[in-house]
Amino acid sequence: MLADLKPKVVSILDQSEKTVDERLASVCDLLRNSIPYYDWVGFYFRNGDKEELKLGPYAGEPTDHTIIPFGKGICGQVAVSNQNFVVPDVAAQDNYIACSITVKAEIVVPLFLNGENIGQIDIDSNTPDPFSEEDERFLEFVNEKVSQIL
Ligand code: SME
Repeated sequence: MLADLKPKVVSILDQSEKTVDERLASVCDLLRNSIPYYDWVGFYFRNGDKEELKLGPYAGEPTDHTIIPFGKGICGQVAVSNQNFVVPDVAAQDNYIACSITVKAEIVVPLFLNGENIGQIDIDSNTPDPFSEEDERFLEFVNEKVSQIL
């Protein structure tokens, strides 16, 4: 159950002796290691005042896409839509940036600080159509808790 991970997420984010990036990296590791269909887990944040996202802490294979312009790919679309984006089949998306040929599905949930969309959590899955509303609610919870330490 995803809900079982909530207390673990909270306790990682509470580790104030660690940097924010260390704590976010630990959350990525927790999610990737605990949820079988989460194959790549990462945070992107707005890059200063630029109309682009910059990769933050992540777990999984390194990606070339460390900078993503607003509007480009699933991530860039979420930067401007402020909405969750659940992609059951990445092959069916025109505006998609492939990070790995093994990826079948993706979910991106925006992260708000004081009502402003400042970043997002991005999950890639090698399993087709694995995400449900439970993932959306869980990732919204994670982002809300993250926003409290930013
Ligand atoms: N697939 C994303 C790019 C980021 S990678 O998944 C890590 C997109 O289309 O925006």
